Amino acid sequence: MSRRLEPLRVGVLASGRGSNLQAILDACRTPGYPARVVVVISDRERAAALDRARAAGVEALWLNPKDFGDREAFDLALVRALEARRVELTAHAGYMRILSPAYIQAFAGRALNVHPSLLPAFPGLHPHRQALAHGVKVSGATVHFTDEGVDTGPIVAQASVPVHDDDTEDTLAARVLAEEHRLYPDVIRWIAEGRVSVRGRIVTVAP
Ligand code: GRF
Repeated sequence: MSRRLEPLRVGVLASGRGSNLQAILDACRTPGYPARVVVVISDRERAAALDRARAAGVEALWLNPKDFGDREAFDLALVRALEARRVELTAHAGYMRILSPAYIQAFAGRALNVHPSLLPAFPGLHPHRQALAHGVKVSGATVHFTDEGVDTGPIVAQASVPVHDDDTEDTLAARVLAEEHRLYPDVIRWIAEGRVSVRGRIVTVAP
């Protein structure tokens, strides 16, 4: 599979702190990394993710949900903004909005999400709380393609961490987050290198 001449154009969607965004931005600065973030879009004006984008010299765009009549209209504006910047891949990083079919169709097979559990266990809100309540001994991080469900799309990569008896949501979250920060830039690189193929639910990464 041939390497692209131009870096893959990535758009990051983030609603909050943006530590995964930061990991991606940091990776983009390493020589030879085959992708770059061309825009960060948030539904929250004060998202720290937007500050991180600005600090990295990347366009930071706030789309105010109140400016749009419904989710569909918001997502159409989102798609327009991404297409105007010729975004080839989107990376959702702590993006808290449920996606409408309009977005999913426009970015089918070109939108990634990171979730802090070993999916399909513990999708949705409070995955660490769910994991601790269930008593699992291992948890982790998942990077997957998005589809119309919540955390249900084809899985590209996972990394596991132990769950300790004295873990709290915060200590488990910190251990998992370190894996998210490692995994997400790797997956984006594999996609930019043209090594990732999807057949139904099964994702293959060529060596
Ligand atoms: C991460 O744990 C991500 O997996 C989850 O929300 C958190 C976002 O963290 N969806 P950050 O905004 O990337 O720091």
